[in-house]
Amino acid sequence: MSKVTVIGAGNVGATCANVLATNGIASEVVLIDIKEGVSEGKALDMLQASALYGGSRIVGVTNDYAKTAKSDVVIITSGMPRKPGMTREELLGVNAGIVKSVMANAMKYSPKAVFIVVANPMDPMTYLALKSSGLPKNRVIGMGGALDSSRFRCYLSMALKGNIADVDGMVIGGHGDTTMIPLASKAAYRGVPVSKLLSKKVLDKVVADTMVGGATLTGLLGTSAWYAPGAAAAFVADAVINDRKKVIPSCVLLEGEYGQEDICIGVPAVIGKNGCEKIVKIELTADEQAKFEASAAAVRSNIEVLKEINAL
Ligand code: LAC
Repeated sequence: MSKVTVIGAGNVGATCANVLATNGIASEVVLIDIKEGVSEGKALDMLQASALYGGSRIVGVTNDYAKTAKSDVVIITSGMPRKPGMTREELLGVNAGIVKSVMANAMKYSPKAVFIVVANPMDPMTYLALKSSGLPKNRVIGMGGALDSSRFRCYLSMALKGNIADVDGMVIGGHGDTTMIPLASKAAYRGVPVSKLLSKKVLDKVVADTMVGGATLTGLLGTSAWYAPGAAAAFVADAVINDRKKVIPSCVLLEGEYGQEDICIGVPAVIGKNGCEKIVKIELTADEQAKFEASAAAVRSNIEVLKEINAL
């Protein structure tokens, strides 16, 4: 038996709940939102679909956190999404209040859960969720790397004209258009380094497309993406619920790893039933390390803003 609560029944939250329920990843899924009727309606729609494809028990509730009690995993997707032309960072002030309050509400009923933060700007929101809750660092994970890495693999597979399942690629650093770091030096196609298969020009374009993968969609859709973000959050939840011990680039608290202290930022991590069970140290090139330091500085400046606005 496993129970997952998804907070926020917007596009990302509802998609995440749908992936969790349709694939039977959790035996029970609770979708909660403050808007009257929205989560009930969407959950009922998914439940009706389960007649066709099967799926877990799913319930929608309006703001009644008692129904989320004893969740194994809580996923925080609530907050404003970005509009075209906006950066994720511009959502900082408004989403900070939302994340803090939903985190406190969920903690009351699921004090043992692993919390997955999706709300943007995701890295400082993860730091805020961790610090405001006082939870141990392994139990608060920001989801950005799973999504950015799936975008990286997507663009790599298109450039290679290969099956995405055969392509391995990882993105670390902040979850921002200019702060994420697709690790081109470590990407591989069936074990062959992609640098041996793609020209530098093509590989540079894959990296650039990956970094604005979310912004490109926001421009096309008028709001930010949901299929890949929802699926990526469900993927991290699956690793926790089913104790998969997968290496997933995740936003976690660093205490000296990768030369950083007191910051939540994306690094490869082993994700299992205890949340982040281990930070994996991989060798970075000098260029990647420099980019990681710049990325950390950018994330840190957002954490400073949280302090200035007294959110922390
Ligand atoms: C994105 C949002 C969810 O990258 O951060 O699409």
